[in-house]
Amino acid sequence: MEVWQERPRCDEAPAWALLAAHFRQAFEGPQAFDLRRAFAQDAGRFAAFSLEAPPLFADLSKSLVDRTAQRLLTQLARECRVEAHRDAMLRGERINVSEDRPVTHVHWRSESNPAVATTDHALSAIKNIVDVSPQVQAGRREMMELAEAVRADTGITDVVHIGIGGSDLGPRVVVQALRASGQVNGPRLHFVANMDGHELAAVLAPLQAARTLFIVASKTFGTAETLRNAQSARDWFVAQGGGEVARHFVAVSANPAAAAAFGAGRCLSFDEGVGGRFSLWSPIGLPIAIAIGREGFAQLLAGARALDEHFAGAPLERNLPVQLALLDLWYRNFHGLASRCVAPYHHGLRGLPAWLQQLEMESNGKGVDARGRPLGFASAPVTWGQAGSNGQHAFFQMLHQGSDVVPVEFVLVRDAAHALPGHHDRLLANALAQARALMCGQAGDAPERHFPGNRPSTVLLLPDLSACSLGALLSLYEHRTFVLGSLWGLNSFDQWGVELGKRHAGEIEAALQAHTESSVLDASTAGLLARLKTPPAAT
Ligand code: F6P
Repeated sequence: MEVWQERPRCDEAPAWALLAAHFRQAFEGPQAFDLRRAFAQDAGRFAAFSLEAPPLFADLSKSLVDRTAQRLLTQLARECRVEAHRDAMLRGERINVSEDRPVTHVHWRSESNPAVATTDHALSAIKNIVDVSPQVQAGRREMMELAEAVRADTGITDVVHIGIGGSDLGPRVVVQALRASGQVNGPRLHFVANMDGHELAAVLAPLQAARTLFIVASKTFGTAETLRNAQSARDWFVAQGGGEVARHFVAVSANPAAAAAFGAGRCLSFDEGVGGRFSLWSPIGLPIAIAIGREGFAQLLAGARALDEHFAGAPLERNLPVQLALLDLWYRNFHGLASRCVAPYHHGLRGLPAWLQQLEMESNGKGVDARGRPLGFASAPVTWGQAGSNGQHAFFQMLHQGSDVVPVEFVLVRDAAHALPGHHDRLLANALAQARALMCGQAGDAPERHFPGNRPSTVLLLPDLSACSLGALLSLYEHRTFVLGSLWGLNSFDQWGVELGKRHAGEIEAALQAHTESSVLDASTAGLLARLKTPPAAT
């Protein structure tokens, strides 16, 4: 058995019990850890708890963690052999055990000459990735050629991307972000994900069939929402007099046979090792390439690669995805915090919480480990949030004075891409003010004016919202999710939990369309179906 297969789960590692003892001693009771005291007693706290992973900077100093916990958590990662697991992923070993697949999304951002490798270890780890690059290079070349052809084709004014989950959220968040920073050009891009026909109908309404290209993106090419939308789009296209379905429908899939059967003229394919929620770097990123072109896409990959090299080579103590994952574990399993809030202070990043929700909760929202054993401790918390400063006028009340402590992650962008005076400084000041207020609190002259303080936050700082910085941010989150799953002993790359609902949906749809009542459904579902089938009473 390989070293990574034999690694202990977090609760089996010696550091787990040490962490539990340290938590009881330093984080409970009247003398419990307090951020304000921690800063007062430790002048080096900001430096000790901030990390660089260029182009990203992270401030973890306002976290409910002390130096002993930090040391024990890093020891935990070492004892859980996170590094061996990471290297196995980078080497393309079959670490997705339940589906017997390798995990290859990092390979899709590899290049033959790794640029900056921070240590020899990073260099060798990244060089191992390059083994698979002939297929990757060919797939990337094909995607870029198609993207450039679409960008140059003045006959195509609109591109409709149809996909859901990982086949939607990654391209959507990147295009949205880079559009806000003025880097998107080429044909208009529309994203359709929801099975609810209102979304597709609204997108199609103003379009002309002859001037529209459809991308049907589905790894499996078997996802109900995507197939429904793709069929409706094809029907609309034909009804509008569109004559060449094969020319106007392109597929992106790991199942090219199904794409061909649908009628797509060509299919950009990729390997099964690319998980849906990790797939924006692969040909699933076609709309990104159409939006920002060859050079922009190369920058996106370069930013992601910078984080890959950091992850592969930085010592665990200074390894940003590892330290963030350890903090996540510390909050979830020792502080007992059940959710975490992500507040990107940039309009372009308003889609980030939705992308992160799939990444974190679909990857690590599991109750048994990769060997099938019940966990016996909590796994993925609820990830939620929205862009700042809007969130301040929605849920920040609860963050400051509610009964639950929720760690907040502020994502800040130093440079704005617009020239409007008086906005960006105020935006950044608001984010820092929220973090400071959460920590400092305030003794109130009335109970309702009392702020308890000692509420934790982290800051992730990007220099700008360029393709490169964005690639680094998304790659950071992917690796953090992997490390947290690794510590918990999970397979972060499967998602069996989404299957049962899909099966029920098929049965219920059949019952909804049938004229008879279903005898196999529970009383609640049957009762709701009956109401849905009842025409509204005449008024
Ligand atoms: O929601 C389940 C899921 O399988 C996700 O993991 C995936 O990203 C999404 O559906 C879409 O899958 P596909 O790309 O195969 O259409």
